[in-house]
Amino acid sequence: MFLTLVGWFVLPSLAAQVPLGLSPHGKPSLELGTASAIAQPYNSANPLDSDSLDRSSWRLDEPPPANETGHFVFETVNSLLQHWPNTRYRNGHTMVPGVIPKGTLLYHGAVNDTIPTVPEWTATDPEHSILFCEGSPDTGCWHLTLAATRPLKVLYFDGTSAGNTLNGTLDTQDIIAWGELRPDWRFEEDQRIEDLCKWGVQYAVDGFVRMEMDFEVMLCDFTAGLEVVSWSHLASIVEPVSTVPTIPNPFLLRMFEVMHAGSWHNRYPGDTRINLDLAGIVSLYDTALAPSLIGSRDGQERCDHGIRAISSADIEAVRRSVSHTLERDQGDTSGIDWKTLFRVIVERYSERFDLMDYLLNSENSTIVDRALKVHVQLRVMLTPYIFHSTVPPRTPYDLSNSWAAPVFKACGTAHTSPMVSYISSLNPSERLLLQAVQETAREICRVITKMWASGVLAGLDIYHPRDSTPDAAQMVHLMGSWRQELSALMTWLDWSVWVRCRPACGPEEMCYLPSWPINVPRGRRPRHPPHRQFESSDIINTSFPDSLPLTHGLLMQLTSPQDDDWRKPQPRCIRRVAPYGF
Ligand SMILES: *[C@@H]1O[C@H](CO)[C@@H](O)[C@H](O)[C@H]1NC(C)=O
Ligand SMILES: *[C@@H]1O[C@H](CO)[C@@H](O)[C@H](O)[C@H]1NC(C)=O
Ligand SMILES: *[C@@H]1O[C@H](CO)[C@@H](O)[C@H](O)[C@H]1NC(C)=O
Ligand SMILES: *[C@@H]1O[C@H](CO)[C@@H](O)[C@H](O)[C@H]1NC(C)=O
Ligand SMILES: *[C@@H]1O[C@H](CO)[C@@H](O)[C@H](O)[C@H]1NC(C)=O
Repeated sequence: MFLTLVGWFVLPSLAAQVPLGLSPHGKPSLELGTASAIAQPYNSANPLDSDSLDRSSWRLDEPPPANETGHFVFETVNSLLQHWPNTRYRNGHTMVPGVIPKGTLLYHGAVNDTIPTVPEWTATDPEHSILFCEGSPDTGCWHLTLAATRPLKVLYFDGTSAGNTLNGTLDTQDIIAWGELRPDWRFEEDQRIEDLCKWGVQYAVDGFVRMEMDFEVMLCDFTAGLEVVSWSHLASIVEPVSTVPTIPNPFLLRMFEVMHAGSWHNRYPGDTRINLDLAGIVSLYDTALAPSLIGSRDGQERCDHGIRAISSADIEAVRRSVSHTLERDQGDTSGIDWKTLFRVIVERYSERFDLMDYLLNSENSTIVDRALKVHVQLRVMLTPYIFHSTVPPRTPYDLSNSWAAPVFKACGTAHTSPMVSYISSLNPSERLLLQAVQETAREICRVITKMWASGVLAGLDIYHPRDSTPDAAQMVHLMGSWRQELSALMTWLDWSVWVRCRPACGPEEMCYLPSWPINVPRGRRPRHPPHRQFESSDIINTSFPDSLPLTHGLLMQLTSPQDDDWRKPQPRCIRRVAPYGF
């Protein structure tokens, strides 16, 4: 019973009063973007003119400006609707419009079988909604399954957007619902859903997609575009007091299973029940849309990026962009398959960088052997861009390796050069996407071309033999620079695909990133269980002291209160079967 009590205390704050829900999704595109958003950092000339991408603008020794955000947009796009990266970076910056297809099921737990007449929450997985199927063993509880009868129009907020925190999880919603940031209203979930839905009426938005331990959809009207599949009177999930305890800890089991369901959507392609319209993306990382935020990111790690510094003019611009993107005809796009374009680039480089990182740091063979193997990887990646005319100078050579610039340029523009010719026909969202790919590909290619060129000059390339064979001392030096260059690139890209449990978890375990609200540090947990359902619940003692909830008792055994688990969640293996521990 004690466990149950604590459990119900935890749940409300976990779900942040989200009884069940699904949440919003997509946001529209920016209408404010301009061609200048696409400016090539290395090239002050007209970025739309490919002739201006001359050799001098493809310098191997020129890293991207620190205030560039294309790589943040790139990894954001590559992470949409995936639980893992949005747990890692809970501070969402991005909104994308989308559609929940006809026939998709959504789940809602309740205390009775009355269809909600106000906006309410639904879950994409019943493991989540079942937490809100509230009723004693005597009364049982109610569980509603809905099916979409037509495509439902939604707006998705990325990050841990259902987390009621002061750390940027709700800020994009505040902009849409209220036109200002209201951290003091972080528990005003009823007001939030009501105002989001009220705002969405003019665009015929059916709901909003958010994420916490799993994905949720906040539905504005349970009777619009939805039919009841079942309204089941279920056996109570409250364990009877006298039962033989065959399951050691039902509360932990239920909590674990919500996170377990969330973990099914950890990686690409994420929760596929929502189809996002990338050509309508609006991101606060768009420096043309929200220039007031540029300076606020100076020297900040991504986990500390916030949007509190946004100007009211930029808030208005963001709201206008989202409005436009929801108003526009969904078919009105270039037809480019952006999702695949981003994916192609991640697939092409992510595993190979991992392998190179291993080779550079392993002790498994001689340093010359490992250097040769790393060089082979560089050569393979760049083969489509190494021309017949690419010839290193005998000696001396210039330190910027300008002989390799054509390789850099061909690699850096390989995926985007055709699009540059019709860039003016792209909408602002699509231009933001193009810019993200351009900036990201450019830096990848700059670094690997630089590494390859130094391998060539060190005599490691069989197609470009040098006069002398590589010696160990030279290799120590080369491997040292390579390690540094690759590691800086991987840090800059910061792809979540590289964040995993090492070694891999055992068969009774799964890899887990500490998730809100389990990992909320001591003293920062919400003082008031904000849940309406919590208050109406017949299985909890509503006079529970309000300062207690999430800081005492069993929950503490579940949590690792180190602050770093909060600021930068680190992966670890947790058990999938009893005894649980997370
Ligand atoms: C970004 O930083 C560079 C200098 O590093 C500066 O010239 C440029 O104006 C900055 N861009 C913006 C949009 O602030
Ligand atoms: C059913 O539950 C909802 C939510 O608690 C409540 O508002 C409503 O009055 C209840 N309906 C009935 C008929 O008890
Ligand atoms: C180390 O290298 C040898 C051959 O060079 C290979 O057989 C072995 O599998 C490698 N060990 C690891 C741990 O990769
Ligand atoms: C609820 O808790 C208060 C003290 O926190 C206690 O006095 C009261 O008896 C409890 N009520 C029930 C029904 O358990
Ligand atoms: C989260 O917000 C709290 C309260 O503003 C702040 O003290 C803390 O530093 C923030 N943590 C992170 C990781 O941003």
